[in-house]
Amino acid sequence: MADIVSDRQHNAYFASFFTPRPTPRVTQKQLFGKHIVLGVGGSIAAYKAIPLLRRLTDLGADVEVVMTASARHFITPLTFQTLSGHPVHTDLFASNSNMAHLRLAETADLILVSPATANLIGRFAHGLADDLLSTLILASHAPLLIVPAMDGDMWQHPRVQQNVQTLRETSVEVLDPEFGTLASGHVGWGRFPSEETIMSSIISLLTMPSDYHSEVVLITAGPTHEAIDPVRYIANRSSGKMGHALAQAAQKRGAKVTFITGPTSLTPPPSVHTISISTAKEMQNEVHKHFERATVVIMAAAVADYQLTHTAATKLKKHEQKHLSLTLSLTPDILGTLASKKTGQFIVGFAAETESLIEEATRKLQEKGLDMIIANDVTQPDTGFGSDTNAAIVLDMHGIAENIPLMPKHEMATKILDLIRHRLGNR
Ligand code: CTP
Repeated sequence: MADIVSDRQHNAYFASFFTPRPTPRVTQKQLFGKHIVLGVGGSIAAYKAIPLLRRLTDLGADVEVVMTASARHFITPLTFQTLSGHPVHTDLFASNSNMAHLRLAETADLILVSPATANLIGRFAHGLADDLLSTLILASHAPLLIVPAMDGDMWQHPRVQQNVQTLRETSVEVLDPEFGTLASGHVGWGRFPSEETIMSSIISLLTMPSDYHSEVVLITAGPTHEAIDPVRYIANRSSGKMGHALAQAAQKRGAKVTFITGPTSLTPPPSVHTISISTAKEMQNEVHKHFERATVVIMAAAVADYQLTHTAATKLKKHEQKHLSLTLSLTPDILGTLASKKTGQFIVGFAAETESLIEEATRKLQEKGLDMIIANDVTQPDTGFGSDTNAAIVLDMHGIAENIPLMPKHEMATKILDLIRHRLGNR
């Protein structure tokens, strides 16, 4: 919970609004030719969109500003109009708008919402479209970067956190606000992030390599469910997060992605060809169907190793048997069957281990005929199933190729794709 700060700190906070910042040195027009839609929400931090707009135009970007009705209580459209060189869009139904939401949605290379309020985040997360900004976001395929700024208790509210999570799972980049003094005088998480943090996210989104544009990447994720009877199944703790992060990252880098996923609570990445399966056999069928066209295969799924030899056709009744023995047989080793069908595919496996990490990963790499294996120790709380972070040792036929330290799974996905790209060479 936030703490009340002294008047002195409070005054210093407001004084900091007007402290001149050193003018950034512009070395090159790094964003020349990029069209950015800057959505400004109704927060006390709305004025911080002004220096951001200046930085973007200094770097050569063409920026068009969309203001929400609440934002106009904090700052006038004229300020943004003067600095961007474009009329500011405020009204979905303006008679002169000429379907602005569709034109902006189609031409934007990036939609930046800065600052974003809890209300805007909630509306975007639920696909609501009741004003110009929320409508164009739904209509656009451009990357979306959200810069929250709000009261600390609001940011930490479970419903806001759930909305942020929903957006992040659908490949929207939501920055974390910073800790510090808030407009209310409280101290907490909710401060508008630093200009440097925002600029580096913008630049990396707009200059993302498209080095996978000629690759067809087949990615599997999640657990499989092996039925015991119509209502029960055997499964494992996989959340599918690593596979989702890989699918999103590969798609952003220009790959054609086929994503085969077992049952998870995650929303499939948008614009990715997603096939939902339940059992190991179904996953095997789909992997074989799409294998020939693929140039890279990443088996991030935690395929169940055992299935019921006989699945009961009707629900097992406990009053009919006090002790239940299940007879299990091995599921097909999907990855193990691919090496013999290989026609140039680069094949990557995962090894989730609780002991002898390197030995087990090396054995799987060799026995399954893989080009690379990502080994991780699932006994650690930050690297286990369901965690948002991971750490791994990457092995190839030459031994240990990389030691990836603890990092968010989406960053690890980028690292793994970099390592694969390096081995694919220039093709
Ligand atoms: N895998 C697969 N089909 C299976 C089991 C695993 O394709 N039936 C793949 C996984 O997707 C992973 C790799 O094989 O990429 C290693 O999986 P893992 O469960 O770590 O190893 P197993 O081969 O199942 O061996 P063990 O259970 O003995 O550790």
